[in-house]
Amino acid sequence: MQFLRLFRTTTFRLAVIYLLLFLVAVLPVLGFIYWSTATLLERQVDEILSAEVVGLEEIYRGRQLAGLIEVVTARANRGDGALYMLARSDGSALAGNLKSWPVTRSDPHGRLTFNYRQRGVQGKRPARGEYFLLSGGVQLLVGRDVSQMRQVQRLILNALAAALAATIGLGMFGGVVTSRRMMQRLEAITRTSRNIIAGDLTQRVRLKGAGDEIDQLADNLNAMLDQIERLMMGMREVADNIAHDLKTPLTRLRNRIEGALIAPAGRADHASALERALEETDQILKTFNALLSIARLEAGAIATRAEPLDLKDVAGGVIELYEPFAEERQVRLVLDAASPARMRGHSELLSQALANLVDNAIKFSPAGGTIRVRVARRAEPPAVEISVADDGPGIPAADRERVLSRFVRLEASRNTPGSGLGLSLVSAVVHLHEGRLELEAAHREAPHGLLARLVFPAEI
Ligand SMILES: Nc1ncnc2c1ncn2[C@@H]1O[C@H](COP(=O)(O)OP(=O)(O)OP(=O)(O)O)[C@@H](O)[C@H]1O
Ligand SMILES: [Mg+2]
Repeated sequence: MQFLRLFRTTTFRLAVIYLLLFLVAVLPVLGFIYWSTATLLERQVDEILSAEVVGLEEIYRGRQLAGLIEVVTARANRGDGALYMLARSDGSALAGNLKSWPVTRSDPHGRLTFNYRQRGVQGKRPARGEYFLLSGGVQLLVGRDVSQMRQVQRLILNALAAALAATIGLGMFGGVVTSRRMMQRLEAITRTSRNIIAGDLTQRVRLKGAGDEIDQLADNLNAMLDQIERLMMGMREVADNIAHDLKTPLTRLRNRIEGALIAPAGRADHASALERALEETDQILKTFNALLSIARLEAGAIATRAEPLDLKDVAGGVIELYEPFAEERQVRLVLDAASPARMRGHSELLSQALANLVDNAIKFSPAGGTIRVRVARRAEPPAVEISVADDGPGIPAADRERVLSRFVRLEASRNTPGSGLGLSLVSAVVHLHEGRLELEAAHREAPHGLLARLVFPAEI
């Protein structure tokens, strides 16, 4: 099964295709090598034969048949693999070391390849020869034993065949190995996803660190899983929060309505009970909306796109909105925004975050206090910041981390209205904008007042 699957993988198919293409390129080269070396050897033999034929012809012309017989007999007896046959026109032998004419021939001269039997040796041996007709009807065949040449040719052929086999073998092996590895990595991804589907959302695909396509795929999958996990955790938290923290005000609301119903009161009492119930309902709705906004922000589910904006404008808008509230609480709102502070972001969300900070500052400032909203730019690294400083009690250093969590309100603020979600939303907005939220004492000398600073990367 495992093996069959291997054949279905894309990589393996690619390996086979590459191998075939490689063979198409390599086979002609190997063929040419064989053909050129083999013919070179044969041409050498043929040249030797031709030279000898010319020589013998000259001897025949100079010393007649008797001289030729003498020379042929002498050379035939040397036993160096040279073959001769001198025959009359009827084919009967005159001299030489071949017993009979090897082939029937039609032309008076030509070249031939033949097998001959050597005296005292079993089997036939290959030879190559040239024959021709001398004047007077005498025929001469000069040949050479080519068994060694054939051996060399066979060696070359074998070597080339081995090279070819090795090419195919290595190609196939490489194909199988690479596709196996690829398959194993993809299988790891499949296994992880199966575990995740089975319910373990904490699992992640392991990266090989090669930075290749599969790693990229795994990286994207992991990022997607992170996002899903964040979303799910956010949703679960919201559900928990709603269950725990909205239960109290809802119960209170219910009791109030019930109390108003059973009390035999006049119209005015009913009206004031309804009014209080309405206030309570508004507060519940506000809390509910804030919770949902925070959950959406934390999950990164934002409808709008980030756009270039100036924090100066954001600050201006918020201050204008909170001027009446500040006046009512008898605090001064001061804006200090000298230079533009440009960044990319969601202006509504940033306004909401700043509004929450200003709201806190006004809420927790004593009458006659001053709140400074400052917009500034930093050079290295390029960043923009917006800060809100007040003259209130501030937040003790030990609590600065804690107040960012949902529904956390400090003991000192029990008497001020609020649900403890303002800073959670600020934190979520800052996080979404890849910025940071810093809380510190606004006045160092006798530490008091809160300085809340939002720092964002500037638009470059
Ligand atoms: N400027 C401030 N000075 C002193 N304490 C602060 C200041 N801002 C926040 N805090 C403390 O941090 C707590 C959490 O603030 P947060 O804005 O999250 O909630 P809240 O203001 O109490 O309620 P909400 O903003 O939901 O109406 C506050 O209850 C308060 O104890
Ligand atoms: Mg608040």
